[in-house]
Amino acid sequence: MYRIRIYGDPILRKKAKKVEVFDDNLNDILEEMIETMYLGDGVGLAAPQVGLSLRTFVMDWGEGPLKVINPEILGFSEEKVIDEEGCLSLPDIFEDVERSRWIKVRFQDEKGNVHERTFEDYPARIFQHEYDHLDGILFIDRISAVKRVALKPKLLELMKRSRQASKR
Ligand code: CO
Repeated sequence: MYRIRIYGDPILRKKAKKVEVFDDNLNDILEEMIETMYLGDGVGLAAPQVGLSLRTFVMDWGEGPLKVINPEILGFSEEKVIDEEGCLSLPDIFEDVERSRWIKVRFQDEKGNVHERTFEDYPARIFQHEYDHLDGILFIDRISAVKRVALKPKLLELMKRSRQASKR
């Protein structure tokens, strides 16, 4: 199981690097990310959240784990929906976030094969959230400034926790 990086850890703000090598090592990383996601009771987990600067994430919206590598979002629906989100890197914070209701995506699997799919509703929301992590974006960046100001004390607390964890 990986240690989950908490808000304040600089890797969460970095743009992750493209995956170039599709080998057993990559698959081991993805399997361990899946285990870490389940142990954390999450529905998605991106590589930067476990300290790896790689454009990959895992997700499970109730149909088993999916490994997503080098994703691209090819199209977003104009229709938006608002729903509550949380994040394993922002424990105990839940806020409404607006997302496109559906997206058309392209990604590679662990063998390097390319897939194109359309996701709607819940999986589309998870995909957009995890995709953001690869560009250093967190869901709290997508809430109103007023709400973000209200979160300040909680965020400062998380930053303290993050600093302590990195010293261990
Ligand atoms: Co997240």
